[in-house]
Amino acid sequence: MFVSRNLGVNEKGNLTIGGVDTVELAKKYGTPLYVMDIDLVRENCRKYKEALKKYCKTDFLVCFASKSFCCKEIYKIINEEGLGVDTVSIGEMYTANKAGFPTEKMCLHGNNKTREELEYAVKNKIGRIVVDNLTELKNLNNIAKENNAKMDILLRIKPGVDAHVHEYVTTGTIDSKFGFALETDEAIDAVKEAISSSNLNLVGLHCHIGSQIFEIKPFLLAAEKMLNFIKNIKETTNYEILELNLGGGFGIPYVKEDVALNVENCIKEIASTIEEKSKKFGLKIPNLIIEPGRSIVAQAGITLYTVGGRKEISNGKIYISVDGGMTDNPRYILYKSVYDAVVANKASEKKEEKVSIAGKCCESGDLIGENVLLQRAKEGDVLAVLVTGAYNYSMLSNYNRNLNPAVVFVENKECKIAVKRQTLDDLLRNDI
Ligand code: LLP
Repeated sequence: MFVSRNLGVNEKGNLTIGGVDTVELAKKYGTPLYVMDIDLVRENCRKYKEALKKYCKTDFLVCFASKSFCCKEIYKIINEEGLGVDTVSIGEMYTANKAGFPTEKMCLHGNNKTREELEYAVKNKIGRIVVDNLTELKNLNNIAKENNAKMDILLRIKPGVDAHVHEYVTTGTIDSKFGFALETDEAIDAVKEAISSSNLNLVGLHCHIGSQIFEIKPFLLAAEKMLNFIKNIKETTNYEILELNLGGGFGIPYVKEDVALNVENCIKEIASTIEEKSKKFGLKIPNLIIEPGRSIVAQAGITLYTVGGRKEISNGKIYISVDGGMTDNPRYILYKSVYDAVVANKASEKKEEKVSIAGKCCESGDLIGENVLLQRAKEGDVLAVLVTGAYNYSMLSNYNRNLNPAVVFVENKECKIAVKRQTLDDLLRNDI
């Protein structure tokens, strides 16, 4: 009935998540409200770990891409599940650190890491730094030297693979701002520079070809190209790369029409491609790292709103306005992302009209969706927008000085606040 299995309808006709009544949640915590089903987050973490355990002949690590959903409580869950994390700023590293996340299982990304971020990474012994460019390579080596440290690094490579996704989330092609291009000598020159850097230890290569990818083929193509490059490195420098990080990007269904990528098959094929190619080239099979973000948290999350006004335009268009919008979910205005929604207190009723869900910001593009099939909504109803666990909370803003919603975690049918709702005083905290 719903796009994700963790949603249901109870005897009152209300939408449930992880077995908990969403109308009760809205009443208890107020709206807008992010709700995360932690049972599903854990299940998703295990799915990746089990698939890698089953198909990888070498060591492996699943690093949760915390840019998709970042707060102290999620780092604790991810740590309990034995995953690593991919961080991309001092803010993410700091949050993870404060949650007690082991720094050796943290990986730092970014195409323009600041000196402050590199120093933080070195001083806090972050396990892996994925170096994006030669300026960073030089700066990191100097900072490591100043701190008497030797840092494990990977080089970010653009493998020249087009994953056929939204142009804003494609990252593997030559014109991307991320990493060293394979097509030119840029990548091999960077490898030579890294090998000769006194305070850096080149352990591996990294690539990330994009996000919300539904086909297995681009991942296999990327793996092949990276293995070819590892062979090339061995032949030209006699240096053996021991770790291959293929990034994230595994696609998930937002609406029922989307067909999920089969994680187990995908991992199986990636692992066998790596094994085959390594054997053929006489290389050690590199340890495999993957960095799923969206596919761990997206389906675990929903956002609850209270319906305000209803506007029926003479051309037949119906607007349902909610008490949030692009401030808590900027994905429609950014990518025209499609969402399914349910009137949570009428979840057992038939969906009978197509509406535009409007946010409350002073901006015509502030919509959560258009042509969304919905039960007839009126003022005071609770609207649930589904599959909002990834890149919603992590991309929120205070536009129009709207307050950031709270985040509630649901686990074993119990709920607790993971992030408090912002207050008006929070808004003024840095104003002088
Ligand atoms: N690794 C790296 C280096 C990345 O840049 C990303 C995402 C990931 C892993 C995780 O990708 P995922 O498994 O979540 O697809 N804001 C956009 C998505 C941007 C993705 C950025 N990088 C959205 O809302 O769709």
